[in-house]
Amino acid sequence: MNVAVIGIGRIGLPLSAAIAGAGHQVFGCDINAERVAQVNRGENPIPDEAGLGELLQRVVAQGTLRATTDTIAAVGQCEAVLFAVAVDVNDAGEADLRPLYAAADTVGRGIRPGTICIFDTTLPVGTTRAQLAPRLESGGLKLGTDFSVAFSPERLLMGRVIEDLKKYPKLVGGVDAEGGPRAAAFYRAVFGEDANVRVLANAETAELTKLAEGAYRDLNIALANELAQVADAYGIDIAEVTTAANSQPYSHIHTPGTGVGGHCIPVYPRFLIQGRGPSALSKLGRDVNDAMPAYAADRVSELLGGLAGKRVLILGLTFRPNVAVTPHTNAVDLLREFTARGATVRGHDALLSEAGVRSLGFEPADEPLEGYDVAVVHAYHDAYRGFDWRRIAPLLLDARNALERAAVEAVGVRYMGIGRPISAD
Ligand SMILES: NC(=O)c1ccc[n+]([C@@H]2O[C@H](COP(=O)([O-])OP(=O)(O)OC[C@H]3O[C@@H](n4cnc5c(N)ncnc54)[C@H](O)[C@@H]3O)[C@@H](O)[C@H]2O)c1
Repeated sequence: MNVAVIGIGRIGLPLSAAIAGAGHQVFGCDINAERVAQVNRGENPIPDEAGLGELLQRVVAQGTLRATTDTIAAVGQCEAVLFAVAVDVNDAGEADLRPLYAAADTVGRGIRPGTICIFDTTLPVGTTRAQLAPRLESGGLKLGTDFSVAFSPERLLMGRVIEDLKKYPKLVGGVDAEGGPRAAAFYRAVFGEDANVRVLANAETAELTKLAEGAYRDLNIALANELAQVADAYGIDIAEVTTAANSQPYSHIHTPGTGVGGHCIPVYPRFLIQGRGPSALSKLGRDVNDAMPAYAADRVSELLGGLAGKRVLILGLTFRPNVAVTPHTNAVDLLREFTARGATVRGHDALLSEAGVRSLGFEPADEPLEGYDVAVVHAYHDAYRGFDWRRIAPLLLDARNALERAAVEAVGVRYMGIGRPISAD
């Protein structure tokens, strides 16, 4: 089968490579000419994506994956077109669909009769039917007669996309009557007849399902964050509480932290807030989680009798450990809050270049990392395991409750987590 993937970014490229690896002819379409050239040389632009480098080299050498900026020509040769163009929120907190609109307009001018078009990008409910499917008619073909459209959310974790593609059920929902079944047939053809594909009632059901997953996690984390503050008020360790509570099968309380980063959790509840129906809880979850960096900075400030003139080092600036991805990272919120209280803040990230650190607004820390008043571990990259914390600072704020408190205390450093008692002086 010939398949076009529109947008060969963090999701689209591993997806393209996986489909090509299954023996199909894939055209990876992107407006970024540099990315296209790099992929065609077999070079991996996403080194922290497990298994991608090797797979990419193989499928490019075999010729089963070819990247191109000529989307119209590519889709004209394909039976299936997948959209993996990112959607973010604008300053008003609403989905900015312009890149996806542009992609759909272009694809519409090139698709041939019989094509199945599948939108993978997370969207506000109703967007596939009302905004995107009509754009695919820009070349004169008719939806439902000449081509079909479905929505099928990516439910993947960056860094292990290739593994996750086969792990979680693939959800599909059609816009036209054939959209769902045809999308399901496509995924079975690509990932094998035994692939776990579920056809939902329609595109809107699939869109809301993806938003529900993100909103659930955001709210769950908000609850964990509220409980963590209660634990602080009583001097209780929240880690002990959640472990004990979750030993009962109906309790699944997540881990508290200084907020939520990336797209899936903090951004997608906004799509519910901008849409129809109630969204009081989605908004509340956002507000609780967004307030956590200030809460953490206040706790450190109270402990140290103010932050004016204090030297603070924030380690791990990406939104999650071990992936070099920074959209909506809470590290910048921590920078803002500590700076607002008078601290001098430096940033360090084992996965980012100095320019990458600066692009987030941080002044990069000088090597060696030492002589700070507070070390804040935001994304606990593997590279930070085994660090000599004693050299860095006498106090460590574990912003994601990710470190082993005993190991920190064992080297004479005071440990402070979110909702965890602070080590004695
Ligand atoms: N990143 C994740 O962890 C993740 C997880 C689950 C779902 N998703 C979904 O995948 C979507 C894509 O995310 P991503 O992280 O891969 O984004 P990304 O920014 O890494 O990649 C998007 C790519 O699309 C390209 N592009 C933009 N406009 C285009 C156009 N008109 N034609 C062709 N290409 C175009 C960009 O140049 C870029 O290479 C997200 O919006 C989200 O809905 C992402």
